[in-house]
Amino acid sequence: MAVTGLILVAFLLMHMFGNTKLLIPEIGAQEFDEYSHYLRRFLYPVLPPMLFLWLFRIALLLSAVVHIVAAVQLTFRDYDAKGGMGRYLRQRYLAGSFAARTMIWGGIIILGGVIFHLLQFTTQTITVGYTGSVDPHERVALAFQEWWMVVFYGVWMIAVCIHVWHGFYSAFCTLGARVGAFSEKVLVACSWIVALLVYFGFMVTPIAILTGLVSF
Ligand code: HEM
Repeated sequence: MAVTGLILVAFLLMHMFGNTKLLIPEIGAQEFDEYSHYLRRFLYPVLPPMLFLWLFRIALLLSAVVHIVAAVQLTFRDYDAKGGMGRYLRQRYLAGSFAARTMIWGGIIILGGVIFHLLQFTTQTITVGYTGSVDPHERVALAFQEWWMVVFYGVWMIAVCIHVWHGFYSAFCTLGARVGAFSEKVLVACSWIVALLVYFGFMVTPIAILTGLVSF
């Protein structure tokens, strides 16, 4: 769980920085479209177009599958340890944060959001604000001119960031980084920084589009 979780966080950070290209004054739209095109032709002509992107997608999917299978196993182990159905124990949460206790539910919300997200921006089965075929920057710009889209992503990103906040901390604990009081403080601080960076880094683009701070 720890290793695949950190791979997924690394993807999130790359994806977030990629999206902020839209905010570059004057040339944001062009930069974003070029970036989208570049992802599809990465390492071309050494590799055929799209091959690298598909290898990347497969690696990402495998990480997500391993992460989810491990999460389900852990949830059942936890359930059995409590005597199944909670028959012998009353649930008392003396320790453990809200995020820690709700990781599995957060994960389910994230998965639902990712499925919607891919249908919207990758396969374009769901289109918001346009019909037909438009450039990559227009898909984003037209979708986030709708306030409810920004609210939807704003709420989904809260689930993503609560998950990242606890997951980042737990992953490094699993990998043996929590060796004392100081390292505990560093890990907590880093989890906050990464979670807040992911939230605001992703949401700055939709908010800038909705408020007209950037226009194309
Ligand atoms: C406000 C937040 C977000 C925005 C505006 C956004 C935007 C986009 C856009 C425009 C694409 C299509 C890129 C292209 O085909 O050129 C995309 C793809 C994708 N996004 Fe997001 N994204 C956001 C958050 C997220 C989050 C939180 C996740 C994961 C939990 C995520 C996972 C993905 C994945 C897996 C792809 C497909 C990449 C591929 O083509 O293989 N996105 N996103």
